Amino acid sequence: MRFAILSDAHIISPGAAPQNGADARANLGAAVRTLAGIRPAPQLVVHLGDQVSMPSPTAYAEFTRITRDLTMPQVHVPGNHDDRAMLAQALPLPSDVEPQGAPGGYYALVRGGVQLVILNSSPGGEVSGGWIDAEQLDWLDRTLAARTREPTVVFVHHHCHPVGIEWLDAVALNNATELMAVLQRHDRVLRVFSGHVHRRTSATVGGASTETAPSTWITLGPDRADPYVNAHQGFLVVDVNADRLSITEVSI
Ligand SMILES: [Fe+2]
Repeated sequence: MRFAILSDAHIISPGAAPQNGADARANLGAAVRTLAGIRPAPQLVVHLGDQVSMPSPTAYAEFTRITRDLTMPQVHVPGNHDDRAMLAQALPLPSDVEPQGAPGGYYALVRGGVQLVILNSSPGGEVSGGWIDAEQLDWLDRTLAARTREPTVVFVHHHCHPVGIEWLDAVALNNATELMAVLQRHDRVLRVFSGHVHRRTSATVGGASTETAPSTWITLGPDRADPYVNAHQGFLVVDVNADRLSITEVSI
């Protein structure tokens, strides 16, 4: 099973000037064109959150317009810049999914023999880090226990391991330790993918392997006063075959 991961597109409304020297709309368009040419074609695209910078119906409509040429289904993880109600309205969940919580919520789906778990780490629209509440962790534990036949990949916007940049690590998933404790109780969780930090990193936390994906818009660096780096934008292509998972990073 092959899927693609796009992250932190940070789309702005039509007519707004590009922010911080990088054109979010042009860059997402470039990612879509590059993705459309990849063979074998991914069966699914997962967006890891912050689909827009400032939520508005026009910003989400612009995201939809730019990605409409993708022929594969898209799944959307909510990020801290997203408005969950607007996100769910503009980019509906797959029709066979029953979300927990509202709106948008968190859910699991199976595609190509792989279970994909979409978590929501921005339940209150906070600005100082992510959090997965106890109810969601309990649902995750039960979901993983109930389905052991397929390998599982987990998606959550906020990062679960320190990336070595102080200001970004201050806004990580605050209860990543609790999430990892749940995942370590189940032996077919192949990987956790996060966005938020706008850069590709990897780690092992306990027995779980965690990744962060690059942004299609712009990269974030260590200088809090001027963090934007107009380089290294891209996306990931992930292949899962039984319990083997491999990642290819694609530049745009
Ligand atoms: Fe974010």
